[in-house]
Amino acid sequence: MAPQDAVLGWDDDTTAEAYAAFTRTFPMYGATSRDLARWAELSDASLVVDLCGGAGATARAILERVPHEATVLSLDSAAAMQRVGRRTLTDPRLSWITATAETLAAHVPPASVDAVVCNSAIWKTDTTTVFAAVSQVLRPGGRFVFNVGGGFAGVRHPDEQSTRTGPSLNALIHEIATSDYGYTPPPAVTSSPKLPPETITQYLADAGLPVLAMDVTAQRSTMAEKKAWLSIPVFARPEGNFTHAQRMRILDAAYALTTPDTPTITSWLVVVAQRPGGPQ
Ligand SMILES: C[S@@+](CC[C@H](N)C(=O)[O-])C[C@H]1O[C@@H](n2cnc3c(N)ncnc32)[C@H](O)[C@@H]1O
Repeated sequence: MAPQDAVLGWDDDTTAEAYAAFTRTFPMYGATSRDLARWAELSDASLVVDLCGGAGATARAILERVPHEATVLSLDSAAAMQRVGRRTLTDPRLSWITATAETLAAHVPPASVDAVVCNSAIWKTDTTTVFAAVSQVLRPGGRFVFNVGGGFAGVRHPDEQSTRTGPSLNALIHEIATSDYGYTPPPAVTSSPKLPPETITQYLADAGLPVLAMDVTAQRSTMAEKKAWLSIPVFARPEGNFTHAQRMRILDAAYALTTPDTPTITSWLVVVAQRPGGPQ
């Protein structure tokens, strides 16, 4: 079965509304987006692409940093996510393109873009195709800035390693689903990370985009934030044959076993690449 947060899971109004409400209430996506926007160096930018922009949390961070006359294009394959974005984020500098990241070069003129920013999504795409498309649209000297969840990149910030918080909400969900619903977890596969730093560096080099910087960051949150995140249908667990209502009952039971303000830490690998040439 495809993971729930594969591309199609996003084109759903309930997920889109819940996701956008989460980004307004909790800091995670806003904070990671602002970090990427800082790395993109946008103060002189005239055209910026928010790749896999969803409902606009990243576009919001980009708009805080670009000049008044700049244009920001938010591209995402999920029309439902963009419907929420169009309604809640009205800025004359922002336009929405409903398309897959892989087809970026069909929507933007070659060598025209000052920066491409992609928050919390690149591992859901066909990365080699996307990197080639980004390389085509970036102007010489233009930056490509994105992040990869620590699990997908195989990196952990030292703070994540040193913070002991007891069982994760995910682990408790699986325990309760197993004991109360006869759930059989899929056999544990110890697969290697999908996008480790060396692979990313190689793919980017192949696309003509040398890496300028990599950084491992720690995003601090709480069990309460994690619970809200796991309530978004596209992220709700466990996978398999459960209704959303059942998943929410399991989540409530799992959450009751935790302390709401227990700190949790999520690691991210931040990657900054740059198309060679252009003004220094
Ligand atoms: C976690 S959301 C991130 C949205 C936004 N960047 C933010 O930080 O709030 C992931 C987004 O990636 C989009 N997405 C996933 N695969 C995609 C693809 N191949 N092309 C375009 N969008 C994609 C989904 O539709 C979803 O809106």
